[in-house]
Amino acid sequence: MNVLLLKPDFHDRHSFVCGEGELDNYLKKYALQDVKRNLTKVFVLEGKRSEEIVGYYTLSPLSFSKNEMKPELSQKLPRYPIPAILLGRLAVSIDYQKQGIGALLLMDAFLRVYQVSEESFGIYAIVVDAKNDNASSFYKHFGFTNFLDKKDRLFLPLENIKALVS
Ligand SMILES: CC(C)(COP(=O)(O)OP(=O)(O)OC[C@H]1O[C@@H](n2cnc3c(N)ncnc32)[C@H](O)[C@@H]1OP(=O)(O)O)[C@@H](O)C(=O)NCCC(=O)NCCS
Repeated sequence: MNVLLLKPDFHDRHSFVCGEGELDNYLKKYALQDVKRNLTKVFVLEGKRSEEIVGYYTLSPLSFSKNEMKPELSQKLPRYPIPAILLGRLAVSIDYQKQGIGALLLMDAFLRVYQVSEESFGIYAIVVDAKNDNASSFYKHFGFTNFLDKKDRLFLPLENIKALVS
């Protein structure tokens, strides 16, 4: 199964249903616009029919302040903005959930970000936006930690990711 960049006139964005309307809607209505404007990259896992989207995730850069982190986790970090990559959305088609696909997509994102961090520029962590409590618990299962005062935003330092992908 292939994870690759969303192809505008090829992948079937309109049939995708994951059970979280906002994530379905994003793929149908906004993903292509964001890609065209260089705001994000959208990666899809193809099904047996290669037009079928089994799951997708998005990546874009962001930065955050050490003040947003629990003090015990930020002691060695500078006061200037901390570079990170936002895994803004991750969703698996309802027909394929609970079969390891979410983990596969997450690992694919980890590997991609890790490679960029090794070869091109500094990235301290991957940040995720969890759309609901279920998503938050999914990310915590992989070691993500909450920011202070933000129930839905979590992060995982690259040093932890390095241990997972190597
Ligand atoms: C959340 C979601 C991405 C999980 O994908 P999935 O393919 O069903 O999950 P997987 O089968 O890959 O699960 C991988 C591991 O995570 C665990 N896991 C899955 N969902 C979990 C949850 N809600 N809480 C805790 N652990 C969870 C599994 O038990 C499994 O553990 P194991 O490797 O130790 O066996 C999927 O259910 C989904 O798309 N939901 C709707 C959209 C959504 O909420 N997206 C979240 C990002 S905003």
